Amino acid sequence: MSATFSIQPIGRFTGQSHPVKRPKEFACFSYDENHEFRLDDSSMKYYYTPQLGADLSKGFEKFQKLDDSGDEHLDSLLKTILAHERETGKKIDANVVTWRGMMTKIMAALFEQQDGFEMNATLYQNCIFIEENNEYKRQSRAKENHRGPRRGPPLEVMQYWGISLPPFRFLILLTQDYKNSPPPSPPGYKFETLSTLPKIWAETSREYIENRENQIVNNKEQYCSVVRTGIGKTVLCLGGEVDAIWDSKPQPGQPINWVELKTTAEIRSDHDMDNFHRKLMKFWIQSFLLGVPKIIVGFRTRDGILMDVKDIETHNIPQTVNSRQGARWNADMCVNFAGEFLEFLQSTINDEGVWRIRRHPASPTIEVFKVEETGHGNILSDEFKNWRIKL
Ligand code: A3P
Ligand code: MG
Ligand code: MG
Repeated sequence: MSATFSIQPIGRFTGQSHPVKRPKEFACFSYDENHEFRLDDSSMKYYYTPQLGADLSKGFEKFQKLDDSGDEHLDSLLKTILAHERETGKKIDANVVTWRGMMTKIMAALFEQQDGFEMNATLYQNCIFIEENNEYKRQSRAKENHRGPRRGPPLEVMQYWGISLPPFRFLILLTQDYKNSPPPSPPGYKFETLSTLPKIWAETSREYIENRENQIVNNKEQYCSVVRTGIGKTVLCLGGEVDAIWDSKPQPGQPINWVELKTTAEIRSDHDMDNFHRKLMKFWIQSFLLGVPKIIVGFRTRDGILMDVKDIETHNIPQTVNSRQGARWNADMCVNFAGEFLEFLQSTINDEGVWRIRRHPASPTIEVFKVEETGHGNILSDEFKNWRIKL
């Protein structure tokens, strides 16, 4: 059993965008500083302007880095959905449940020629659950790490602050053996620590604010929002990390002033600007999917000094990109593509078993085929299945 969805010709996705729903958070969870799950917002961070001139590489040797090489499936998301269903006594109405990161890969596929992906999916009680295929993630990271000597600092350092050339002080780091270090995971964590407070401003000491440069950076701690949203005819439930909040949470159902934090190299030429506009696609998709209205970009020098901070309104990005000559992506087309792909997925994944959703790098198609005839693999926890049977 298999089916293929053609990405090309991309021209067929032009035109007015499919209807989209405003994402609404209906639940949330946190991972504490040891990455233990908590069904609350305890790891939510508050945005507070960082000090310019800060060194994004400072303290890298103390970085408390999450080892995300294991397979977490959809466990935390399902726990949170389950708790919500217990409370309300009814099932959520999503057609598709997944991590925001998976939906970002799908939505970006139209304009991302090089990226491949593999996901596992299963149908359970009229809803498709999609997880990342951990084996694929592991292999692509291993390939990344064995592509011969890379120019620049080790990946881990780049993720800490995002950089392309090794300044002198990285020589020590470069001589260490990184082969056995945990695989890479998401860049710019230092910027997050420099730009946030664990409590609201009024409850934070001046000393803390002024010494954020010396805080130990820990990416095990996370706040995740769980939203109901929609693209075209498909209702989605997405879970994803949000970096910070601008003020504090409003009444339930009201839009939340989330903030996404990003770092990027200073823009010094037209070529840099082209690259930045290309990067804006992922920034936009990621924030659009969870309803994050503001993206705060920290611009750094090539050797990692924070020089400038700019606020970007997520909803202005599509227009900004379109108005520059030679735009390489289009937001409406991303939405139309995602809308049609999700419909294709629902007509294809129509009985039990485990399915694979796969795109080879640079391939013009996405394939969907069955890999296990029965059951739900490890995508769904027993706890979730057992609870759902009763509901
Ligand atoms: P920058 O995006 O500022 O470079 P996010 O911005 O999604 O909250 O992620 C925080 C940081 O995780 C990123 O900072 C980056 O360092 C790292 N990161 C995110 N996605 C990544 C990816 N696909 N590969 C490697 N690192 C990534
Ligand atoms: Mg983040
Ligand atoms: Mg971020």
